[in-house]
Amino acid sequence: MTGPKLALTDSDLTTLATDVVVVGTVQGPDGLVLADGAAAVDAAFEGGLVGILDTLGAKGRAEEVVKLPTLGKLAAPLLIAVGLGKPGADGAVSEEQVRRAAGAAARALAGRKRAVTTLSAVHLGAAVEGTLLGGYSFTDYKSEAGDGPVGKLDLATPAEGSLKDHRAALKASTAIAEAVTTTRDLVNTPPNDLFPASFAERAAALGKAAGLEVEVLDEKALRKAGFGGILGVGMGSSRPPRLVHLSYVGPKAGKKVALVGKGITFDTGGISIKPAAGMDEMTSDMGGAAAVVATMVLAAKLKYPLAIEAWVPMAENMPSGSAYRPGDVLTMYGGKTVEVLNTDAEGRLILSDAIARACEDEPDYLIETSTLTGAAVVALGKKTAGVMGSDEFRDRVAATGRAVGENAWAMPLPEELRADLDSRLADLANVMGHRWGGMLAAGIFLSEFVAEGVQWAHLDIAGPSWHSGGPSGYTTKGGTGVPVRTLAAVLADIAANG
Ligand code: BES
Ligand code: MN
Ligand code: ZN
Repeated sequence: MTGPKLALTDSDLTTLATDVVVVGTVQGPDGLVLADGAAAVDAAFEGGLVGILDTLGAKGRAEEVVKLPTLGKLAAPLLIAVGLGKPGADGAVSEEQVRRAAGAAARALAGRKRAVTTLSAVHLGAAVEGTLLGGYSFTDYKSEAGDGPVGKLDLATPAEGSLKDHRAALKASTAIAEAVTTTRDLVNTPPNDLFPASFAERAAALGKAAGLEVEVLDEKALRKAGFGGILGVGMGSSRPPRLVHLSYVGPKAGKKVALVGKGITFDTGGISIKPAAGMDEMTSDMGGAAAVVATMVLAAKLKYPLAIEAWVPMAENMPSGSAYRPGDVLTMYGGKTVEVLNTDAEGRLILSDAIARACEDEPDYLIETSTLTGAAVVALGKKTAGVMGSDEFRDRVAATGRAVGENAWAMPLPEELRADLDSRLADLANVMGHRWGGMLAAGIFLSEFVAEGVQWAHLDIAGPSWHSGGPSGYTTKGGTGVPVRTLAAVLADIAANG
């Protein structure tokens, strides 16, 4: 999907030739008030805009959309007032509030040729992200695409700050939002069309276009190098597995970062097959991989001063006469052996191979993300990622996620659970004999493959990577693109602070 054309404007919004003017409203302590950036528009209504909106029932509640014909008060025939909700304790409206309001406004603008928004005067970057993400829709498989997003959106320039900074913010936020929509597109592509080889091709094409170095290991190369986890999981499918390696070396590259993402293009559970109800959602079991690929493209676009190596394992988990079975022992990359007690705990098997390989390059930081466990959804719900790993880095990643509006919460790796992964015959088993602490056990399994001295974080995105309800804020149905914005913010933080 291509989003609207975005441009900063300093024009007088009351005379600007456009179809719609968007203003923000706030649920103040004493009732409805206008957000920053709406003063000139209000003046065109002789200061009566709050009164008119109040008559129409507006409260300023989050994502409330009220439409008003301007009857000649503005050059634009329509005004849309979108709610930001209550301001915070400091009296200010947060970036996340603007992101959500901009998302709701973007949907209200669908099909229009041209509009101007004043939400950008409140928080420019958040308005850009909310607009591009909230207006997203995946129509590749629809015979009729329906209303597309608004064609061109002018962004009122914030009152403070330099034009140079505003331009940089517009560019960075556009790139970040595009990385999110790339991730959504990949996740939303159905599993008959997105399988390991086709996913690898798309990842390679995206990587090459961004100037990354790209290497794709096919099943022969995987066998030669000893990637037993990826091969074992991929055995059941007629469509063999892949491992995609993307490299980025930035200008004045400082820290070395490794990224790993789970790329199960469809998870039936394998021989330990899943129930039919809801199995279709397992089209999203490559959300971690998609996020990592898109983040690599973003890193190249924003030229982070880092060296980043991404290792992205891709496989389809199918039951068949050639499938791996409960009871099999796999020899993983690096030589550790794993007894497979449940073929539905496949993510950790492909990820461990990739983590072990990534650690050979001695990264300072390793970030891995995966739709790994249903237990994460039970513990944290559909909107919050569970973050495990090295104590300090785990907390940093979780806090960074929360700061950009992707909820994340630090989770422990209790050492007593390690014994529950002991195997009768191999170095470890892929599941415990019980289900208590299933999210944490998966994290402990992965930790066995992380090299000493590497600061690492594992983000279990089983809940937040997929949205089953209707659109809300800037979150649309299907793939959400989580945790791209967390990854981007963590990389920017490492670039700035080490
Ligand atoms: N891909 C699933 C996890 C998942 C569940 C993601 C729900 C998104 C929504 C994963 O491969 C899986 O099947 N995990 C098992 C692990 C179990 C066998 C230890 C699970 O969570 O049931
Ligand atoms: Mn599974
Ligand atoms: Zn899975």
